[in-house]
Amino acid sequence: MKDKVLAEFKARFGADGDIRTYFAPGRVNLIGEHTDYNGGHVFPCALTIGTYAVVRLRDDKKTRMYSMNFENLGIMENNIENLKASKEADWTNYPLGMVWTFKQKGFSIDKGFDMLLFGNIPNGSGLSSSASVEVVTGVMLNDMFSCGIDNKEISLLGQYSENNYNGVNCGIMDQFAVAMGKADNAIFLDTATLEFEYAPIKLSNSKIVIACSNKKRGLGDSKYNERRNQCETALAELQKKLSIKSLGELSPEEFEANKELITDDVNRVRAKHAVYENQRTIDAVKALKANDIAKFGKLMNESHVSLRDDYEVTGIELDTLVEASWEQKGVIGSRMTGAGFGGCTVSIVENDAIDSFIENVGKTYKEKIGYAADFYVVEIGEGARRI
Ligand code: GLA
Repeated sequence: MKDKVLAEFKARFGADGDIRTYFAPGRVNLIGEHTDYNGGHVFPCALTIGTYAVVRLRDDKKTRMYSMNFENLGIMENNIENLKASKEADWTNYPLGMVWTFKQKGFSIDKGFDMLLFGNIPNGSGLSSSASVEVVTGVMLNDMFSCGIDNKEISLLGQYSENNYNGVNCGIMDQFAVAMGKADNAIFLDTATLEFEYAPIKLSNSKIVIACSNKKRGLGDSKYNERRNQCETALAELQKKLSIKSLGELSPEEFEANKELITDDVNRVRAKHAVYENQRTIDAVKALKANDIAKFGKLMNESHVSLRDDYEVTGIELDTLVEASWEQKGVIGSRMTGAGFGGCTVSIVENDAIDSFIENVGKTYKEKIGYAADFYVVEIGEGARRI
């Protein structure tokens, strides 16, 4: 792949000078959904698919960017001064947001660049294609301008950019997973402290299968921000009595004993999801360490039910995929993954059952929804880096 993107860069931007290539993966979250902006735990892993970036600095302040995924947009030009997100900038809002962020944080980004991107993460699929673009740009800026920061810090800058340049109030999970991934491991991350631990995913006779609903998120971003506000309102009410900084500090028992402090019924079930999902994530990692993969799968299923009924971020497409998955033999667990409102599901499926899983779930989905889902049997890969 590196040779292919490099050749493409040279064809578009010329072959001379110091040309460097970088990669950042996509991610899939195994469990711990909508907990990261609530100070809870998440358990994502990086994938081997992701975004490639080929870059050469310029002598002026221009940026010229080309994406092999959006060929019709051609080379998009901008300037590193006076950056501001705009509709016209389209996908380049993600890399430009990183330039803006690095400058905001005091790094000296004093030259523009030519950049070619290629991503093999399906777009808008909820596998963090945007975090992947942000982090690959962050790794590039850090290297090209010798900023001297590590990948953890780059992930925080990626989140800052998404929040403040692109206006999505996301948590830290995606950028962290993309920046810090490790092959064959998931990351057990406490989003309140950013303490984390790698946990080996040893699925001897099964694999991770992602099913992409092909339903674009559409209004997802505004609904996402709405969920976040509902949790914040619930927290503020709990704080009238409890001295907690986030919902992630509450055990399910503490929540049950205090939930009447939350006056709105909807906000109460949103907070309930955040608290119980955090506990499920902690329990799931324990189960995995004890080699109890059946329990891990059961917790994945419970996570989906909670996201469907209490958090209400699934929708008919994701529910159809997951409910059809639960009926298949050889399925250890299945749930929606990522923000929801479309995007993907993640399932753990026994090797022997993968073909029939894809066939049967695919058939049920097409019959009910009217268009096809795509399936990917994925491997867990390394985090962002120069290649
Ligand atoms: C999106 C956000 C993450 C996280 C998930 C839901 O992927 O970017 O920060 O909140 O949704 O778990």
